[in-house]
Amino acid sequence: MLEDRKMKTQSQVSSIFDIAKDTVLFLVLSFYYILESLFWTLVPNAFRPMKSLKGDIVLVTGGGGGVGRRLAIRLARLGAKVVIWDVNEDALNKTCSAVRDEGYEAKSYVVDLADRAAVYKSAQKVKREVGKVDVLINNAGVVFGETLLELNDAAIERTYKVNILSHYWTVKAFLPDMIENGKGHIVTVGSVAGLLGTYRCTDYSATKFATVGFHESLFTELRAHGHSSIYATLVCPYYINTGMFDGVTPRLMPMLEPDYVAETMIDSIRKNEVNCIMPGSVRYLLPLKCLLPAKMCWDLMHRVMKGPQSMMELKKKPQAI
Ligand SMILES: NC(=O)c1ccc[n+]([C@@H]2O[C@H](COP(=O)([O-])OP(=O)(O)OC[C@H]3O[C@@H](n4cnc5c(N)ncnc54)[C@H](O)[C@@H]3O)[C@@H](O)[C@H]2O)c1
Repeated sequence: MLEDRKMKTQSQVSSIFDIAKDTVLFLVLSFYYILESLFWTLVPNAFRPMKSLKGDIVLVTGGGGGVGRRLAIRLARLGAKVVIWDVNEDALNKTCSAVRDEGYEAKSYVVDLADRAAVYKSAQKVKREVGKVDVLINNAGVVFGETLLELNDAAIERTYKVNILSHYWTVKAFLPDMIENGKGHIVTVGSVAGLLGTYRCTDYSATKFATVGFHESLFTELRAHGHSSIYATLVCPYYINTGMFDGVTPRLMPMLEPDYVAETMIDSIRKNEVNCIMPGSVRYLLPLKCLLPAKMCWDLMHRVMKGPQSMMELKKKPQAI
């Protein structure tokens, strides 16, 4: 009995010692991480090492549209082998001809990301016809912009299928090759609406919040399993001037331009960044939502930013049926 108690005390002491040791190590490393992060924030891109995407197969979903098209063009300029997926064939053709006008090639596939079987089938086709994907950019997204009671069930389901479920199918299709190659990059396009609930976006915001959880969990799985050369980047932009949020006139900050978003996104990928929030100032506002009283947050959003009021101007889109 006495022996048991002695052993228990010894193991408690050693576990306290382990926690103290790990905490001290963590604090020392944290100091280094903060200095490293400050250093790289201050160094202009031109003077820092950036990953080359030359020769890499980069797949962009929603590559027919606003940001996706700009991504495809810029990636082609960097020498990447660009593969684009979109449900809209005309938009795909426009992107391909824009890429071709610059003297590059892009391979396009008509894929409805809401259709799981089509995603898996197209992934096999890409592997056969182009090769193993090195960088996957899950960029496609939809918004219907209705209040919860106005949204029909099919629209809610479609938003979930395109904005988040498709990420599972594409990552399941391409990640095993990245693991086999010992390199890869998965880019998840979320939104500031995935960090802050937004009026007329119960479906859209919820799926974008899901992208955050998806990215963070995937990141922990990759690191915990030792896949340190497979990177994951979460991109959360504020409103972008692509037409997706047509009619909205944000009060305090103008919409971002799609060229700027695509450029910043590619820089972030080339720096292997884990998070890319645009504009960067939003990062400083976010903690306020947990720190401030709820009434104050609502007043800030409603009275000062006029977020809901500006979303009331969003042009209606036909709902899925
Ligand atoms: N526009 C914004 O204000 C804004 C803000 C933050 C985040 N985002 C996100 O950025 C990403 C790109 O947005 P964008 O502004 O370029 O949008 P966009 O509407 O201009 O382009 C989206 C593209 O996705 C394609 N797409 C839609 N449904 C599809 C499906 N089922 N299968 C395949 N392709 C499909 C569309 O055809 C379109 O080409 C989206 O994920 C969006 O949610 C946009």
